Amino acid sequence: MIKRLGNYIPLLFTLLITSACAATPISLNPIPSTLEPHGTGAARIAELWWLMLTLGTVIFILVFGLLVAALLRNRRSTSATAPDSSSGDIGRSWPIFGGIVLPFIVISTIFSYSIYTLTAVENLSGKSAVNIEIVGRRWWWEVKYPDQGITTANEIHIPVGLPVQIQLQSADVIHSFWVPELHGKMDLIPTRINHITIQADQVGTYRGQCAEFCGLQHAHMGLLVIVESKDDFNAWLASQQAPAAAPIDQAALQGEQVFLTTGCVFCHTVRGLDDKSIDRSSVDLGPDLTHLSSRLTIAGASLTNNRGNLAGWIIDAQHIKPGSLMPNIYLNSEDLQALLIYLENLH
Ligand code: CUA
Repeated sequence: MIKRLGNYIPLLFTLLITSACAATPISLNPIPSTLEPHGTGAARIAELWWLMLTLGTVIFILVFGLLVAALLRNRRSTSATAPDSSSGDIGRSWPIFGGIVLPFIVISTIFSYSIYTLTAVENLSGKSAVNIEIVGRRWWWEVKYPDQGITTANEIHIPVGLPVQIQLQSADVIHSFWVPELHGKMDLIPTRINHITIQADQVGTYRGQCAEFCGLQHAHMGLLVIVESKDDFNAWLASQQAPAAAPIDQAALQGEQVFLTTGCVFCHTVRGLDDKSIDRSSVDLGPDLTHLSSRLTIAGASLTNNRGNLAGWIIDAQHIKPGSLMPNIYLNSEDLQALLIYLENLH
C-alpha cells in the first residue's frame, strides 16, 4: 500500500501543477435561469411565467386592499348605532363578482395562455436542421447524431437559430432533460421514446441538468449545449466523424496499450481502435472516447476536462461520484501518465 502511494507522489505533484494551469473555467452562466431565455421555447415559457406573476400580484394587492377596507368598515359600523342599509345591493354583488366572475376571467386567461404556450413550445416551426438521439444513463448522457454516425457524451452541439429535434430514451431509470435557458423539461422514460424540439437564438454555451431524481448521483448528471454558427457546427460535425487520432509518440502508444489491457476498452469505445479479440457486448456502458479531449467536461459535466481531473477520475472515480459505473483503475504512475497522454491525443 505504502509502495503504491509512493508511486503516485511524483504524479500528484505533476497533477497539482497541470490542473492549476489548466483550470480554465468554461464561460457559461453558473446559475442558468428560465427567466433569462436564449431559446424560442424558453422565451414562451418565461412569458407565461411573467403573465402569471403579474396577475397573481394584482389579485394579491386587490384581496389585501379589500381585507383592510373590510376591517376598517367593520370597526366604523360597530361604533355606529344603525348599519347603512343602502349598501345592501353592493354587498350582495361583491361575492358574485369577486367569487365567480373575477376568478373565471383570471383562470380562463391563464388556461388559454398555457394552452397557447404548450402548443407553441411543442411545435417550433421549420424543418429540423439536425436530429439527435439522447440516452439517459446513471449518471451521464449519451448523445448520438444518427445521420452523421457520431456518438459523444454530455455535450450537445447545435446550430444557432434552427430547430433541432431530440429523441429521448433511458437505459435504466427515469431521467429528465432540462436546459433552462433553452426549453422546458422532458422526461426520459425506460421502454418509451419521447421527443423534444429545441431552438437556441443566441450563440453560447448553456448548462443542462437532469431534472428527475434518478439516484445517488442525480445532482452530478449535467450536460452542456454548445450553440454555434452554422459553419462552426458543420466543422464540428466533420471533426467528430473522423476516427480517433493515431498515437503520435511512444508515450501515447504505451497509453494505447494501457487502454487496451487494463479494462478501459471493455466499457469505452474509441472508433478506429477495434481489437477484435475483445468481447464488445458491454462497450456502451461508458461514454464513447473517440474525441474525448474535444469535450469541455467529463463525468456528466461535473468536472472540467483537464489532465488533473482526468487522472483523478481514472484512479478515484468512486470518490468523485460514488455509485457510478466507473470503477477506480489502479495504475502505476508511469502507466497512468501514458494513458493520460493517449487520452489527451484523442482530440
Ligand atoms: Cu438522471 Cu436525475
